[in-house]
Amino acid sequence: MFELVFASANQGKIKEIHKILDGFVIKGLRDVGINEEIPETGQTFFDNAFQKANYVYQKCGCNVFADDSGLVVNALNGEPGVHSAIYAGYPKNDLKNIQLLLQKMQGISDRSAYFISVICLIYQGKEYYFEGRVNGHIIDEMRGSNGFGYDPVFIPDGYNITFAEMDNDLKNKISHRNKALEKMKEFLIQQK
Ligand code: IMP
Repeated sequence: MFELVFASANQGKIKEIHKILDGFVIKGLRDVGINEEIPETGQTFFDNAFQKANYVYQKCGCNVFADDSGLVVNALNGEPGVHSAIYAGYPKNDLKNIQLLLQKMQGISDRSAYFISVICLIYQGKEYYFEGRVNGHIIDEMRGSNGFGYDPVFIPDGYNITFAEMDNDLKNKISHRNKALEKMKEFLIQQK
């Protein structure tokens, strides 16, 4: 059975990843003796995904992948970008992040934005990257109570409801994370 370490402590993501990568054995950080928080100080999604995967690889030398994701708003020059989780500062607060975003977007007519997920896989000592995006736009009020992060203000193209108004299965099916994961899965299947 093919084994991979997923370099994340986020339980929601771990659950989602197990569903998508059925047929693979996915180990967690604790399984390889990592209990500390992994530093994430990069300036791009690629840097951060690599930093997390490489941290684990340096410790265990095993096949490992990590993801980094966020929201990119075109009219705000790419903000909140890699700072999505802590846009309004520490401690991380989803509601404050949304409030700051809506405040910055007041009076702006270009509401286009996308979610991006970048996966860095270190497989047999070599790095591979997989990217998934979902385009959409930011509305000026919060709608829905599912999901997390910026879900209540993001409507993906082709829909008229926010990510937070969708049930989990639909969001997971069309999400940036799913797209990146499916690409990695395809790559891994070819290696089997
Ligand atoms: P992470 O790198 O996946 O932990 O994501 C960083 C931040 O981006 C999160 O804390 C959220 O603010 C935002 N984000 C990433 N993916 C999503 C999503 O699917 N919905 C809403 N917000 C997201």
